Amino acid sequence: MDKIVVQGGRRLEGRVAASGAKNAALPLIFATILTDKPCRLTSVPEVADIRTACRLLEMLGAKVERPAAGELIIDCSSVSEFEAPYDLVRTMRASFLTLGPLLARFGRACVSKPGGCAIGSRPIDIHLQGFLTMGARVENVGGYADVAAERLRGAHVILDKPSVGATENIVMAACLADGHTRVENAAREPEVVDLVDALVSMGAKINGAGSSVIEIEGVPALDGFDHRVMPDRIEVGTFLIAGAMTRGDIFVEHGRAEHLGSLIGALEASGSTVRADAKGLGVYTDTRPLAISVKTAPYPGFPTDLQAQLMALMTLANGTSRICETIFENRFMHVSELQRMGASIKLSGNTAEVEGRVTLKGAPVMATDLRASVCLVLAGLAAQDQTEVLRVYHLDRGYENLEGKLASLGARVSREPA
Ligand code: UD1
Repeated sequence: MDKIVVQGGRRLEGRVAASGAKNAALPLIFATILTDKPCRLTSVPEVADIRTACRLLEMLGAKVERPAAGELIIDCSSVSEFEAPYDLVRTMRASFLTLGPLLARFGRACVSKPGGCAIGSRPIDIHLQGFLTMGARVENVGGYADVAAERLRGAHVILDKPSVGATENIVMAACLADGHTRVENAAREPEVVDLVDALVSMGAKINGAGSSVIEIEGVPALDGFDHRVMPDRIEVGTFLIAGAMTRGDIFVEHGRAEHLGSLIGALEASGSTVRADAKGLGVYTDTRPLAISVKTAPYPGFPTDLQAQLMALMTLANGTSRICETIFENRFMHVSELQRMGASIKLSGNTAEVEGRVTLKGAPVMATDLRASVCLVLAGLAAQDQTEVLRVYHLDRGYENLEGKLASLGARVSREPA
């Protein structure tokens, strides 16, 4: 298994292009199950989770072609299996997003329950409650959720929490249900809006995406789509924080200020200058960051997927910062590794108190989830000496060519066999 080796202390400078968003591409790939017509996606990132999603579709009987880099053509006309097995759901929890589309088009879906993962218990009760409200029968058989309905009916669904995945799953299912569905307390994330844009281009009747109430009028069948995946706001945010940590001057093409308001506010409050134009987002930093406090929250709040990276920045801040994680209870796997690099962090419940240091020291480190891993790479960029980040497969799940992109900004970073 590979490791990422970082020689710290280089200021990042220059331009880098963000890839398409993994978290938008995954639901879009599963949305193709809703139709027997071919669908085309472009700007799909070349990352492990996307390969897993394509493998799952092929297991269901779909044809998946990759005519060019970043392009997928998916034909679900021959789907004949309705089961997402444990092995795949275990490696990628988003496999659960097959449930809504399979149920809506074929009336049957059997998906392994995801169980726990490194960042928390991650239940699926909100998804299943939505399908029950729409008239489905749900049985638990051998660790699988076996869900069936001759016809789903439109319903008034109130989500317990604004879950991104549950919103996407229920909206996809409602597109082919009988009658009207109203989803309240819906997630407002830009990835939900990107999915709805594609569904509308297929002929779905949906209003309100991006707000907390989404209304769907079911239609009998949907067409194919040709859709460009939105840019990855979490990747953009990760690069902006890397720029700030190295007192750099970088520009991230395709970054959109309207997707990253809470991060931009945090970076500006900590002393960076952020500039936005039609092509992307830039950050310029020439001082040690000031300590700021943040609390993660559903969109448009501060994203949990940027919490670890912001904590890496705060380990170098002038002052003490408090970072409160409200979405996933265990999402502090990076704390003990940052401490090994010299960071001063105290954990108390869901809050980390970070007392900034002037420098970090390179060390061999590893993490057990995607964002925790990338936060260690960022820490390594700003640290003295060499940092080795092990278990690179976590990074490969969601970052396209991370080391190449960082190297193009002047970082000394390489991938080596561990
Ligand atoms: C998505 C993102 C993930 C991000 C997360 C929160 C994808 C592929 N992944 O994950 O990167 O960190 O949003 O922004 O888009 N919950 C329940 N019951 C449920 C479903 C969720 O209690 O049935 C809880 C979760 O435990 C968590 C909260 O709701 O506390 C939010 O989770 P959710 O928005 O569903 O996250 P995902 O869609 O899995």
